[in-house]
Amino acid sequence: ALERTFSIIKPDAVRRNLIGKILAKFEEAGLRPVALKKIHMTRAQAEGFYGVHKDRPFFGELVEQMIASPVVVQVLEGENAILANREVMGATNPANAADGTIRKEFALSIGENSVHGSDAPETAAEEIKFFFNDDEIVG
Ligand code: CMP
Repeated sequence: ALERTFSIIKPDAVRRNLIGKILAKFEEAGLRPVALKKIHMTRAQAEGFYGVHKDRPFFGELVEQMIASPVVVQVLEGENAILANREVMGATNPANAADGTIRKEFALSIGENSVHGSDAPETAAEEIKFFFNDDEIVG
């Protein structure tokens, strides 16, 4: 089915000027950016967005990394977009990511892993709403 998923090109990748290379990976995987903007997340946004992880030992470092410098947030549309995006991202830990994936090619570590993507339809809908109004999404 045609789906939408939410994606972040994280600070480590934006700092290394990899926005275009990562968008190309999404496009080659059949994912179409239908909304896209560069933002510098506030601490409140990062803490709210990653609230599900607030009791994890890496939460503080995760928030610091996400607010250290700008990110690009986007909505990606395509057939089975949620799974397709997870496949093109590769495993969370780049040491475990398959060849050809974004994290294999670009990620530095489990924390500085270049991209975030929604893991399920419910979280995709929530994460899209967290950063985009309906009128910013142009299908
Ligand atoms: P992301 O998909 O953005 O969701 C939560 C992030 O926490 C994850 O990618 C990683 O970048 C980061 N993180 C840091 N340490 C860990 C860890 N030990 N396990 C899982 N995620 C981690």
